[in-house]
Amino acid sequence: MLPKQLLLLLLAQAQLLVVAVGVDGGVEFAYEGFVTAGLALDGIASVTPDGLLLLTNDTNLNIAHAFHPDPVRFHRPPSGGGAPVMSSFSTTFVFAIVSDLIDLSTSGLAFLVAPSSRDLSTATAQQYLGMFNASNNGDPQNHVFAVELDTVRNTEFQDMNDNHVGIDVNSLNSSAAATAGYYDDATGTFQNLGLASRHPMQVWVDYDAATTEITVATAPARSPRPKRPLLSTRINLSTIIADTAYVGFSSGSSIVLCKNYVLGWSFSLDGGAAPALDYAKLPKLPRIGPKPRTKALAIVLPIVTTAAVLAAVGVGLLVLRRRLRYAEVREDWEVEFGPHRFAFKDLYHATAGFRDKRLLGTGGFGSVYMGLLPGSRSEVAVKRVSHESKQGMKEFIAEVVSIGRLRHRNLVQLLGYCRRKGELLLVYDYMPNGSLDKYLHGHREDTALDWAQRLRIIKGVASGLLYLHEDWEQVVIHRDIKASNVLLDGEMNGRLGDFGLARLYDHGAPAKTTHVVGTMGYLAPELVRTGRATTLSDVFAFGAFLLEVTCGRRPIEEEDVYGDFDRFVLADWVLGHWRNGAITGAVDAKLRTGTGYNAAEADLVLRLGLTCLHPSPVARPSMRQVMQYLNSSAPLPELPPTYVTINMLTAMETQQGVLGTRAVWRSTSSIATMSDSDIGLSSGR
Ligand SMILES: *[C@@H]1O[C@H](CO)[C@@H](O)[C@H](O)[C@H]1NC(C)=O
Ligand SMILES: *[C@@H]1O[C@H](CO)[C@@H](O)[C@H](O)[C@H]1NC(C)=O
Ligand SMILES: *[C@@H]1O[C@H](CO)[C@@H](O)[C@H](O)[C@H]1NC(C)=O
Ligand SMILES: *[C@@H]1O[C@H](CO)[C@@H](O)[C@H](O)[C@H]1NC(C)=O
Repeated sequence: MLPKQLLLLLLAQAQLLVVAVGVDGGVEFAYEGFVTAGLALDGIASVTPDGLLLLTNDTNLNIAHAFHPDPVRFHRPPSGGGAPVMSSFSTTFVFAIVSDLIDLSTSGLAFLVAPSSRDLSTATAQQYLGMFNASNNGDPQNHVFAVELDTVRNTEFQDMNDNHVGIDVNSLNSSAAATAGYYDDATGTFQNLGLASRHPMQVWVDYDAATTEITVATAPARSPRPKRPLLSTRINLSTIIADTAYVGFSSGSSIVLCKNYVLGWSFSLDGGAAPALDYAKLPKLPRIGPKPRTKALAIVLPIVTTAAVLAAVGVGLLVLRRRLRYAEVREDWEVEFGPHRFAFKDLYHATAGFRDKRLLGTGGFGSVYMGLLPGSRSEVAVKRVSHESKQGMKEFIAEVVSIGRLRHRNLVQLLGYCRRKGELLLVYDYMPNGSLDKYLHGHREDTALDWAQRLRIIKGVASGLLYLHEDWEQVVIHRDIKASNVLLDGEMNGRLGDFGLARLYDHGAPAKTTHVVGTMGYLAPELVRTGRATTLSDVFAFGAFLLEVTCGRRPIEEEDVYGDFDRFVLADWVLGHWRNGAITGAVDAKLRTGTGYNAAEADLVLRLGLTCLHPSPVARPSMRQVMQYLNSSAPLPELPPTYVTINMLTAMETQQGVLGTRAVWRSTSSIATMSDSDIGLSSGR
């Protein structure tokens, strides 16, 4: 206990400095939600009406800080008098990282102690977490102590992986770090925690001034603090943390929309453990739509809503009364498209009234039925897509009709369309062998394709895509290349299907933006960022497709492990094999033991896949080059040793400097003017 007089003196001073004063003159506070906390916010940090502290809410590389409003006096004269000494402290908080694309979390957040709540304005976002910039990282003058929750592996900071907790002293090169997780109290086994899993998690940080021991523990929300800490190290913070300093959180936005939330926080200086947080009182995270599934997700980000809104099919139409059964919508402007128009009555009979037994499949944009056209008896596939908006319909039909003029043996032929109230029907050639993904991801041995078949499909799809990009009268961007959109004809040739989503571009005309449509794992980073699809974003998706076909695995697979999502990223996995000098180790095991397997060809296809998956569009080959590489009429350039996948893209950004990289992601014109050497690449074109 302090002498009474000194305690009073401290109390008088302390009132200016602290919110609550503990028995020993310490500081203590606890927030379960932040509505009344009066946090000092800057940058893009905000407190939502529900009381969540939302650090990042955009993709503009902004920084965000939220500090407890009053400074904390970390050094005080000891009870016996003399020079001030550093106090112990303890803090705990509950946070959640909610990324739009769960495979693309590109930053993280940190609890920090900083000498001033205002001198962080020159810090930068993304991998610098709003705490430092490229010039002051590691500077002892920073006087910053932090615990980072980092979802990116930045090799320039010697990060161990893309899911770690680190103790940072003046630097993002952590003094100690560990994979995010905890040791189970009962069994002692280590359990992973996916920081970017969208689930709330709790962190405990303690500093014991007497021993200089720093301990950090993490656990899933609602679990007690694990007995064994995740990290424990001794660092004397006495000269690091300023006499009075601010405590709070820091983060920065990055190219992927990633919302970093803090739900509750408590802190205690010289008062023992930080007060416990009551989960029942914490604000709830907003609902974020359906749970991520193991299957690839189709995502639609509205950018500029001009075209028809495509949504799920209403099969309820089937119960319409008989006289309404064949009703169609026709408008005057459709006369010019006449020859491509089908009568609904014909389609209805062709599909036996859209019976379930004719259902070939249901995708994100509609259901597909097998049909036999009356008269010709030719087999067709009829896709029913609901549309709610009349706006843009003429434009859309015009596109459908011009797509109908595309002719290539590796494209699924679109024969025509029909319109009904709230519904659009697209009629395609029927593909008797169905879609490729069933062969790749099915579990039946008899449907597995051998290597020669797969290579033929790959070459076919490449040639179809080259036709769309370069050999037709207009540039057609497919926008949704993936195994499930590749259909197999009677001779097992691969044909690209589903042009319902494709938009047309005149040669040389600027892209017009409607939706970002595509499928996770196949979406190029610049497409996510700008919403603008290009031939090079198609090449990216084609790269994902190459790996998918060769490895027999989806670009992204998620498994629900211990309530957390374990994410398998195919590109990173293949890259790992390449780095180990054995890229063909990633080839589908079914192929390696099968007939006709050619390791040199598989090696080429995998390296080509990685080349197409380059995060920077300028480093990707064109489809014409892809064809040359596949046919061995041109040698595929070696991957540069600095090759990074999208998960490692922040490493690339450091070489470029954050502002330069920002230009890369933000403006396609600056991409065009940058040379490959500018961004540290040596392959591609
Ligand atoms: C993010 O939050 C800041 C601070 O509340 C606000 O000014 C800004 O408009 C928000 N940005 C977006 C994209 O919602
Ligand atoms: C980095 O931060 C330091 C400290 O605030 C500042 O002096 C310096 O100008 C910043 N550097 C850049 C490049 O912004
Ligand atoms: C961080 O680590 C990198 C890679 O080893 C090194 O080049 C850099 O100098 C380190 N920076 C600091 C501030 O320690
Ligand atoms: C920590 O460093 C301070 C200042 O150098 C020193 O006075 C103190 O004794 C150190 N604490 C421990 C536990 O070594």
